[in-house]
Amino acid sequence: MSPVFGRRSGQLFVEEVPLAAIAEMAGTPVYVNSAGGMRAQARALIDAFAGQDVQVCYAVKANHHLAILKLFASLGLGMDTVSGGEIARALKAGCPPERIVFAGVAKDDDEMRQGLRHDIWQFNVESIEELRRLDQVAQTLGTRARVALRVNPNVAAGGHDKISTGRKGDKFGVPVENAVSILGEAARMPGIEPVGLHCHIGSQITELAPFEAAYLRVIEAWKAVRQSGVPITRIDFGGGFGVHYREAPNFTIADYAAMVKRITTGLGAKLVLEPGRFLVAEQAVLLTRVIYLKETGEHRFLVLDAGMNTLIRPAMYGAWHDIEPVGIPGAELAPTEVVGPICESSDFFARGRMLPRMVEGDLVAIMQAGAYGRVMASDYNSRPGPAEVMVDGDQFDVITRRRPVEKQYEDEVIPPWLG
Ligand SMILES: Cc1ncc(COP(=O)(O)O)c(C=O)c1O
Repeated sequence: MSPVFGRRSGQLFVEEVPLAAIAEMAGTPVYVNSAGGMRAQARALIDAFAGQDVQVCYAVKANHHLAILKLFASLGLGMDTVSGGEIARALKAGCPPERIVFAGVAKDDDEMRQGLRHDIWQFNVESIEELRRLDQVAQTLGTRARVALRVNPNVAAGGHDKISTGRKGDKFGVPVENAVSILGEAARMPGIEPVGLHCHIGSQITELAPFEAAYLRVIEAWKAVRQSGVPITRIDFGGGFGVHYREAPNFTIADYAAMVKRITTGLGAKLVLEPGRFLVAEQAVLLTRVIYLKETGEHRFLVLDAGMNTLIRPAMYGAWHDIEPVGIPGAELAPTEVVGPICESSDFFARGRMLPRMVEGDLVAIMQAGAYGRVMASDYNSRPGPAEVMVDGDQFDVITRRRPVEKQYEDEVIPPWLG
């Protein structure tokens, strides 16, 4: 558990605030983010790379809330974005364009124009087709796009098949062996300024070895590109650092920084990192309330007011989240099915989890919910969307109001010919 969460007189707190007080003020389900925890993670990463030329860009997709982006931008972080919408959010939150990276496999012309008009720092390009399109768009605007080519180093990594991105056959990037020829072509394009190479091999990676294997291939390609006469200066190593869900990663961020330093010393490259999960995952909980304790004789079901519509990771990836009673936990543990209200049998948070007995009305914290949580919530089953709170020390505020059902159908239109 992140040190920002802890018990006082048996009650679960976040920083200086009892979670029960947040439920009282904001209702449930509610995501509760710790500003102190996020700041500590960012500082740990910045400190680990002290003295090295590194730009950390927060992967906005992990949680795109404006307040979170503002918090990271004010610490000097840049933003790794994957859509025009994320660029707009980064700018709105006060991140300067010279710290914005734009990645993603499907940038369309409008998004390219948006990035170019703001003169963002780097486009991470995923294919020769995209490169040619970006060249055309930049030329029509009379400008040049700074491009890092995303290469696929063919290394399997990541906590789940669905979040492994650096293997041949994954849709991301170009084969690493094609870097020299593609950047050679890029250097002849009037609308392109090749600046570097990029890779991102997956997410929730809990060992150092796959990072090192991939990075060594990227470094080899980086040297080859430079030898071919294209003076690239940056290496963007992506994100993917694992966090502690069920088990801790077997390396610390200091180990990671030491490995990167060892293999990059003397290159003279500017490094870019794109962590998402590492910065936010463990620094938030999903606070939810027990609607029913349903005991069938054989099974004990804890039915919550949050479900796969609120946090989809368990249903989508079979992901593990620690589950904590917010009040004083009882001593007797029994296997418990922790489920949501949605009409799908995949709507669960834990199966057969040893938990103390909780009853109707009790508060439950689903831990490590800060990354790929609120941002993946949906309107499925037309339940009000979760609220979001930020805590900093002893102060807290609602940062996302609960989304009422009327807002969900606000943009729906019944055609007049239906009568
Ligand atoms: C290109 C890129 N960079 C960074 C990230 C962030 O990954 P993580 O949250 O695992 O650090 C992702 C995640 O999908 C990504 O696709």
